[in-house]
Amino acid sequence: MPSEAFVAKLNEQIGHEFAAHQQYVAIAVHYDAETLPQLARFFYRQALEERDHAMMMIQYLIDADERAVVPGVVAPEVDFGDIVGPVALALGQEKRVSEQINALAGAARQEGDYSSEQFMQWFIKEQIEEIATMSDLLRVVERSQDQPMDIEDYLAREQLGEAGADPTAPRAAGAGG
Ligand SMILES: [Fe+2]
Ligand SMILES: [Fe+2]
Repeated sequence: MPSEAFVAKLNEQIGHEFAAHQQYVAIAVHYDAETLPQLARFFYRQALEERDHAMMMIQYLIDADERAVVPGVVAPEVDFGDIVGPVALALGQEKRVSEQINALAGAARQEGDYSSEQFMQWFIKEQIEEIATMSDLLRVVERSQDQPMDIEDYLAREQLGEAGADPTAPRAAGAGG
């Protein structure tokens, strides 16, 4: 059974994941309005992943017979200067989330809550991938910021961040199965 401290922290993290979802939707909409469909597509997809993360955490609490709280979220940043800004913001966000996820695993371990510590392992691996993907994208947009179509071509070609189905992923609330 998850420790009380872990449950409180995980509920906070659900808020961070939903906030990340909103932020990525805001970035996607920004690029969509700028007619940069590949960048938009990338962030719409990232947004769905963040929602999934929140729903996986909710499912974990439901399964453990703990209270999952669906929170309100802080408003996302919606004003962006150039094509690089949103990606830099996204990378900063992923780094922050990685620290939060590590702290969650640490809290679980400290409480002797090994099932929760194990639950966090998938997210630790996921964060390593997300930081790698986002720093790749940042390099691409920095290099080609004056040629946005090069960025679009790159994304169309490389399918950055498009992982297939992951059978090791925790079950998400509402996803069936
Ligand atoms: Fe996430
Ligand atoms: Fe993420």
